[in-house]
Amino acid sequence: MLRALSIAAAAAIAAVGVAVAAGDAEHPHDYPFSFDSPVGGYDMGEVQRGFQVYQQVCASCHGMDNLAYRHLGEKGGPFALYMVRDHDTGELTPHVGKPAHGGRFVPVTENPYVRAIASNVMIADIDPSSGMETERAGRPEDYFRNPFPNEIAARATNGGAYPVDLSVITLARHGGADYIRSLLLGYDGESNGALHHNKYFPGGWIAMPPPLIEGAVAYADGTETTVEQYATDVTAFLQWAADPHMETRKRTGIIVLAFLLMLAGVLYLAYKQVWRGESH
Ligand code: HEC
Repeated sequence: MLRALSIAAAAAIAAVGVAVAAGDAEHPHDYPFSFDSPVGGYDMGEVQRGFQVYQQVCASCHGMDNLAYRHLGEKGGPFALYMVRDHDTGELTPHVGKPAHGGRFVPVTENPYVRAIASNVMIADIDPSSGMETERAGRPEDYFRNPFPNEIAARATNGGAYPVDLSVITLARHGGADYIRSLLLGYDGESNGALHHNKYFPGGWIAMPPPLIEGAVAYADGTETTVEQYATDVTAFLQWAADPHMETRKRTGIIVLAFLLMLAGVLYLAYKQVWRGESH
């Protein structure tokens, strides 16, 4: 008991410490993401557009070392390809992202979208004949290109600040997706050259210049190209990257719950049967 109390006290002190260290940062805006609820999944259109924003904007400073291009096309990925049979014509048509029902999953190695995404990126490699360093077009099995060869180079280009790896950033920050989205929208134009005022960043001043500019990324699906939309989309992509199996996990959870409920019902009936006629 005493031990439990002292652990609780230590935790409380640590929490206060973190709150103080966080300074005057504003509480993130609670945005209703599709994945927030216990049964909610990803909006794959959002995740696809978010990848585009990452690729065209964030990837010039931030790596995502845990991700390979092939992950984008695996089951549950934003560019997973399915062949769906048209009811009227009987023809098979490609569908990017899981269709509402049916569809045959196309293995990543045969997914032209993933191959195109990878081949648009130049990856550092060793030339097999000369042994010299070279660059080649990316392949689905390559991990995401890191914009810098090492942390020293990354800091040297960013005024001493380090653009963190974004692979699991929504899990690594208090406030998760809401914090990331708020941070991207938290600039007010105030800057001293090296640092930019952002009310959601602990301490209030961040070395990252406002990365999102209205209209800078062209969307093919007609979605509006505002800073707010970019922030929502790229955050959804970062959440998917950090937790790609969330949908399966939630589904399994629901099946387990349904099973337990059924089991409880059966046990109750068995109990009634066994004790029928007994006074207790
Ligand atoms: C010009 C380079 C640059 C670009 C482009 C850029 N960032 Fe950053 N980012 C940085 C730097 C530098 C830091 C470290 C800031 C600091 O520590 O003050 C950072 C920090 C961050 C952080 C961590 C904040 C924290 O709580 O520690 C997140 C999240 C982030 N960036 C997301 C993004 C996203 C998403 C994009 C694309 C929309 C993006 N960044 C584009 C340079 C960049």
